[in-house]
Amino acid sequence: MKFSEKNVVILGGSTGIGLATAEAFINAGENVWITGRSEKNLQPAALKIGNPKLKTLIADTSSLAGIADLEKAISENGINIHVLHLNSGIGIFSPIEHTTEADFDAQFNTNVKAHYFTLQKLIPHLAEGSSVVFTSSGAATAARLNSGVYSATKSALNKIAQIAANELAGRKIRVNIVSPVSVATEAVSLFPDEIVADLASITALQRMGEPEEIAKVVLFLASDDASFITGI
Ligand SMILES: NC(=O)c1ccc[n+]([C@@H]2O[C@H](COP(=O)([O-])OP(=O)(O)OC[C@H]3O[C@@H](n4cnc5c(N)ncnc54)[C@H](OP(=O)(O)O)[C@@H]3O)[C@@H](O)[C@H]2O)c1
Repeated sequence: MKFSEKNVVILGGSTGIGLATAEAFINAGENVWITGRSEKNLQPAALKIGNPKLKTLIADTSSLAGIADLEKAISENGINIHVLHLNSGIGIFSPIEHTTEADFDAQFNTNVKAHYFTLQKLIPHLAEGSSVVFTSSGAATAARLNSGVYSATKSALNKIAQIAANELAGRKIRVNIVSPVSVATEAVSLFPDEIVADLASITALQRMGEPEEIAKVVLFLASDDASFITGI
């Protein structure tokens, strides 16, 4: 896969899939900016990667104010974005009858509103021919118990990504979606063992995936090797 000094912005790059993707882009020689809500995870992430081509930006993108902070930082740093990976997300699992308004809003704000308006605000900073990759989930098309809100956020994201692919095609910007299931990340490490075992059992390979395995898909979609792939 060939890249050439591309500028990569990863929303939610401080842990898990986003961090593995950041590391993969750094190893490919790119300039990478990762975001997170605070220094708590960003600082260890920067230490782990240990490369001056990796920069961190603090922005809680679940609100328009946080997205404005991010846009300001991108603008001030003069970053012409070649790859935008909209990856941040949270999952709060409960049956419909026990779901609170706060949990509903937190998931829609973090998983949908954040990506929609970050894309909107960063469109002027996207280079012609750039690539946008959303992290959705297999949950978008599944109907597992207790995932009513989370799955709905990911279904919404899929539709937004498909429409963005059509709206941005005129500038040769490709927009695609990765839809993992069952990846062993920090978020999943908080689940009880029986839930993790269940997550592994729903995959064909009967194991959890590694964040690095998802990162490789993001790199492929962002590369010129995927030059005819968009809206997928
Ligand atoms: N792991 C899986 O099995 C799996 C399966 C399907 C889909 N996914 C999706 O993959 C994506 C990454 O998940 P992960 O498993 O790698 O989880 P993770 O390790 O918890 O990573 C989530 C990332 O999102 C960031 N984030 C969360 N809320 C944010 C906010 N309001 N503003 C800015 N950043 C925020 C986190 O940053 P801070 O915490 O540092 O703020 C972190 O960098 C999510 O969209 C998730 O839904 C995961």
